[in-house]
Amino acid sequence: MPFIIAIDGPAASGKGTIARALAAHYGFHHLDTGLLYRATGAKGGDPIEAARSLAPDDLQRDDLRSAEAGQAASRIAAIPEVRSALVEFQRRFAAQEPGSVLDGRDIGTVICPDAPVKLFVIASNEVRARRRAEELGADPAEMLDQLQERDRRDRERDTAPLRPADDATVIDTSHISVEEAVAAAIAIVERARG
Ligand code: DC
Repeated sequence: MPFIIAIDGPAASGKGTIARALAAHYGFHHLDTGLLYRATGAKGGDPIEAARSLAPDDLQRDDLRSAEAGQAASRIAAIPEVRSALVEFQRRFAAQEPGSVLDGRDIGTVICPDAPVKLFVIASNEVRARRRAEELGADPAEMLDQLQERDRRDRERDTAPLRPADDATVIDTSHISVEEAVAAAIAIVERARG
């Protein structure tokens, strides 16, 4: 049985960094599921059609990391038919041996509800805005507005809203280093692996 690590959390919480580090540490596959929604939004046209016809090449566009692509992704991610079109790809990815790490908003609640490890990564608004501003070379105040708008939409949507699974472990990265956050995550995985 492949081992699945589900990681969810709001934008710029540090979940992607932890996901990549865990995948490297365990030799697991890693999927940044936000990329699927960003690529769907960036295709333009009918988002449902865009999600249904999403191809590997669509994930290679280099404008997917922008704040605009994040906002567009958050908007189309509220459409139930867009989400359902992307479920099978994510579950198939998660089924790969020897294991996989998926990060997103609904991995522990909807995509992989039976994952033996579920992490919910959070950080304060100020820390997240600063990180995102440094990453994109943008203004922290503007980033704060955008993050809050996106989080509100992601939390309040009816289908697969952002929330911790009942059995998720929360990691708050506001005041710890990347190394400490990764060590905390590895300790949780080790406990689950027995
Ligand atoms: O993780 P990210 O910032 O790249 O995600 C972009 C948007 O995509 C996010 O605001 C909401 C949506 N998303 C989602 O609804 N479900 C996921 N599993 C991943 C992302």
